[in-house]
Order: sequence, then structure tokens, then C-alpha cells
Amino acid sequence: MPTRQAVILVGVLAIALLYLLISNSTAPKSEVKPHPPSPSTENGEPVFRQRLVAVGDLHGDIQNAQKVLRMAGLIDSQANWIGGQDILVQTGDIVDRGAHALDIYKLMQKLRGQAAGKGGRVLSILGNHEIMNAIGDWRYVTQDDIKEFGGTKRRQEALAKDGWLGAEWLANYSVTAKVPLSPYTHSPALSFTHGSLRPSFPNLLPYPKKINELGYSLLSKALTPPLVPPYPPNPYSGLPKGHTREEAELYAEGGPLWWRGLAEREDEKQVCQWAEELKTKLGVRRIIGGHTPNFERIVSRCNGSIIIIDTGISSAYGGVLSALDIVYTLTPVKDRTEGKDTGHRQDPLMIASFDPSYGTSAKKADIVKGEAERQIDANENENENTNASAETSALKGRFIEREEVHAIYEKRKKLIVVEEREISL
Ligand SMILES: *[C@@H]1O[C@H](CO)[C@@H](O)[C@H](O)[C@H]1NC(C)=O
Ligand SMILES: *[C@@H]1O[C@H](CO)[C@@H](O)[C@H](O)[C@H]1NC(C)=O
Ligand SMILES: *[C@@H]1O[C@H](CO)[C@@H](O)[C@H](O)[C@H]1NC(C)=O
Repeated sequence: MPTRQAVILVGVLAIALLYLLISNSTAPKSEVKPHPPSPSTENGEPVFRQRLVAVGDLHGDIQNAQKVLRMAGLIDSQANWIGGQDILVQTGDIVDRGAHALDIYKLMQKLRGQAAGKGGRVLSILGNHEIMNAIGDWRYVTQDDIKEFGGTKRRQEALAKDGWLGAEWLANYSVTAKVPLSPYTHSPALSFTHGSLRPSFPNLLPYPKKINELGYSLLSKALTPPLVPPYPPNPYSGLPKGHTREEAELYAEGGPLWWRGLAEREDEKQVCQWAEELKTKLGVRRIIGGHTPNFERIVSRCNGSIIIIDTGISSAYGGVLSALDIVYTLTPVKDRTEGKDTGHRQDPLMIASFDPSYGTSAKKADIVKGEAERQIDANENENENTNASAETSALKGRFIEREEVHAIYEKRKKLIVVEEREISL
């Protein structure tokens, strides 16, 4: 026979459980906090903070593209930039399958200008579908997309190197990008490419210069009028006249626009060997790409060394809305009493609590000191070995360098990896 107390206890527990279930299931979308928790350290506030959001294949779905950017806190309901100094990287394949690529390209163009005005940045990567459109392979172009451009002729005019879209691709899109997380010496950098970088790809180095030079020259040949008649209904023309062997390698199955090895190869040991080789060769901490969809989640391999962010965002696929969210901070190390244990900062449990005020723009202005000295050279076309020594004058001393990587979805947020170490500047 259960005692009266036991019955009451069970009742109370049942109510508590019910409450938990209800409060979880009715959690509004705004529960997803785009700004991660503040670093778990007794050392005070960060003096440098950089957030980076990466978004994968969008395939002509302007609605879902905007939803993802809103979810990530980068745009408002009017699709204007509210990301402040954040960096947005879109990893290509804006076009094909859906009807509204034109709107997404225009949106990116607008955001690029707005972000730049706030000290932020929009970086655009070319996908295999951008190049397909450039060389007249229109197999995945929808009739509605052609209509949006005003017909085949108008679409080709837009794509030509003196058209609005062709000029934008040549000026502001690249095949790969190496993005440092801070302007300071030895800053970790991230690599972004649409497909997979292959360690044995012949034109990997110097990175990212060589790949981007080849992309630029191939694209400008393809976009020099007259553009070839699109296939279908015309026959496939292949790569533009006068292309070089290296340009053909860039667009080949094993090149950065098409290869899927880092996403698809099952042998984990092999993939992690590739990751280590690439990280060393390219001088980056992570290799991030799209192209190979997983319709449920952002895929992290080899402890976040490789991250594949294509989740089939477009309704043409019906996958999940997602973005990769990275927050990098530098926090001064306060003088400690002798022999104090500092090992607990690695404790992943410590990031469980949110500080909702963290990352608001008012606070950010205080955090980011020395703004004048801060010049993030994320330009993939420039020399990757930036001499940051001039800028380090802004920060001197010992810092906790922390990088938090999350996958964010409509209703949840999942930690991928946290890296933290003490550095001297
Ligand atoms: C590239 O982006 C910059 C910065 O927003 C913009 O001023 C420029 O017009 C763009 N270039 C082209 C050719 O669209
Ligand atoms: C970086 O700049 C400093 C000061 O201008 C100079 O002494 C140093 O040689 C430069 N280092 C590299 C790698 O260019
Ligand atoms: C994964 O990376 C984190 C951060 O660098 C590190 O603390 C952890 O030990 C790594 N885990 C494995 C299995 O390598």
C-alpha cells in the first residue's frame, strides 16, 4: 500500500514533468538566441568579439533564404542588415531548382553594401550551379526563373560580364575564401568552398589565391559576350573557348566546385587525415563547405575540422533551415593568485547558461576597442599572409582566445565545438 506522502510526491512529480513538456513544446522561435553565451571565464568581458555566420545552398528560394538570415539575427523583417560587424559567408548555389535566384542575388548585393557600412561583411562563394549558368548549362534553370529575368535573352544579358549579375559575380564572388577570425597575429582562419577541397588538387597552393585566379579567369571567359546558346534546348557547349587545362581542372569532378570527398567518403580515418593535411597546407582551422546535402543537420566531421552546411534549405529540397554560427572572442587574463587551477575553462557544461544581453549592439560598441586598428582582411583575392603586426598594437598581453561553433536551426541550437586557449599578443 503506498503511503499518502508517496501519492502526493508522485502527483507533484507528474505535474512538474507535464509543465516541462508543455513549456518545451510551446517554446517560441525567438527562443533560439542567435548570440551564444558569454565566455565561461572569471576574467571579465571580452575586448574583441567577431561573429561569423555561414549559410549553405539556397537554390532559388528567397523566402527560406530570408528566414535563415532572420533566424541568424542578420536581417530584420524588411530584410535590412542588422548584423552589425558580423561576417556572413554564403557558400554558393544560389541559383537553379527554385524560381527566385534573382531576388537572392539582389538581396546579397544589398546586404553587402549595408554590412560594409556597419563594419560587417558579406562574402559570397561561387557554387557549381553559378558556373553551370555561366557556361550555358541551364539544365536546372526553371521556366519561372527565366521569366523573372525577363526571358532567355535578358537573362543572358544579366549574366554577361557587363550585365548586373555577371559583373557582381566577377567583382564580389570567389571560388574559395580564407577568413581570419581576428586581425591579430596568428589569428585562426577558416576556409570556405562550395564543394570539397581535395588535398591532392594540383592548384591548391598558394591558397586561396591560385584557386580564385583560376575561377576568375574561367568565369570571365564564360561571361564574355556573345554567351553561348543555353543547353537545353541547344547542344551543350562545354567550357568556354580558349580555356586552359588548369581552368578545366578547377571545374572537373575532382575540383573544388564539384568534389564531395570530405562530405561523402565514409572512411572516417581517411577523411580526418585529409582534414589534417588540408589544415596544415592551407593554414586554416576548419574547412567549411556546402554542395552535399544532409536534409536534417549540419554535419561536423573530425571534431569540427570539416563542417558541411548544406541542409537542403530550399523548398525544392524541403530540408531544414540552418546556419553555422561562430563566435570568436579575446578576453584579457586577469592576474591570478599563484597556482590557481585554470583547467576548468574547458568544461563544456559551463556554456549552458545564456546571458541574453550579450552581443547586443550597445554592448558590442564597448567591447570592440581599437576599432580604427581593426582591419579584417577577409578578402580572398589578397595575400593570405597578412602582416598583422601593425594592428596588434591595439591589444597587448595575455588573452583567453575562445571560438564557439554552433549549428542553429529554427527551434534549436546545437554545439559543434568549443576551442579555448590562452594566447599572448
Ligand atoms: C561589389 O560589392 C561592392 C560592395 O558592396 C559594391 O560597391 C559593388 O558595386 C559590387 N560590385 C559589383 C560589380 O556589383
Ligand atoms: C611585418 O611588418 C613588420 C613591421 O612593419 C616588419 O618588420 C616585418 O618584417 C613584417 N613581416 C612580414 C612577414 O612581412
Ligand atoms: C575536439 O576539440 C576540442 C577543442 O579543441 C578538444 O577540447 C577535444 O579534446 C577534441 N576532441 C577530440 C576527440 O579530439
